[in-house]
Amino acid sequence: MIRKCLFPAAGYGTRFLPATKATPKEMLPVLTKPLIQYGVEEALEAGITTMAIVTGRGKRAIEDHFDISYELEHQIKGTSKEPLLDEIRALITQCTFSYTRQIEMKGLGHAILTGETLIGSEPFAVILADDLCDNSHSTINATENATRSEKGILSQMIDIYKKYRCSIVAIEEVPMEETHKYGVIAGKLIDGTANTYRVTDMVEKPNPEDAPTNMAIIGRYILTPDIFDILRNTQPGKGGEIQITDALLQQAKEGRVIAYRFKGRRFDCGSVDGFVEATNYFYGKRQEGKTQ
Ligand code: G1P
Repeated sequence: MIRKCLFPAAGYGTRFLPATKATPKEMLPVLTKPLIQYGVEEALEAGITTMAIVTGRGKRAIEDHFDISYELEHQIKGTSKEPLLDEIRALITQCTFSYTRQIEMKGLGHAILTGETLIGSEPFAVILADDLCDNSHSTINATENATRSEKGILSQMIDIYKKYRCSIVAIEEVPMEETHKYGVIAGKLIDGTANTYRVTDMVEKPNPEDAPTNMAIIGRYILTPDIFDILRNTQPGKGGEIQITDALLQQAKEGRVIAYRFKGRRFDCGSVDGFVEATNYFYGKRQEGKTQ
């Protein structure tokens, strides 16, 4: 039903300079895996096999990553290192990857509109790879495992989409002093068990005194295709950029946006602190896996 996932990946990644001078920020690894690969794995887990990636200048490494390297295959075949390629090989076999370039960086809304050529007129998912999400087992505590959902965040959102058939945004509560980093929503709780809200207002990166709540949008969306027409008519907003938050507000005014408080963890890998936190978390999980 949701067949395609869009990955806006044209941004400069200035917060990680100089690392991102010649390397796409989406290719920065948490342990041995680039950020965007985690995103593709999350989409695949949600049953999506068509990956649509909006790139820009200097992003060719992303295309090479999701392709076969014959030279490497030749070198590694039959050696003890070969299993290290298993995961990426499986992705390449199961998914198709298509790309389009954003020529000018005019904001996330503009990047999503640039992806229209790859998406067409069907509902689709969006993953911002620098929000790294995880909802797999991270503990050997049996009681906790029994109560935790193991579905990925996008997979959980698709379940919500099936029920409401409108745009869905993932949210989490953030400290009030951090609202200026996020799109922030206000909404009416519609299902306390499912943690869903009907969105009534959305503001892009408000100062705490202007923020309607502390419920921040994180980088997972399901969008209905009418969003493209809305984006075409959306004027530049915060920071002079075309904002997806502003376009979604148009849908929200018609009651067509649901916010979902997801189960799982999310790391802001667009910041050094979040990146280090994610690295420690995944390293801890890996060590735990080895000792079980
Ligand atoms: C973008 C969106 C913002 C959202 C955030 C999630 O901002 O514009 O609404 O809360 O992603 O990560 P960015 O982080 O790209 O500045």
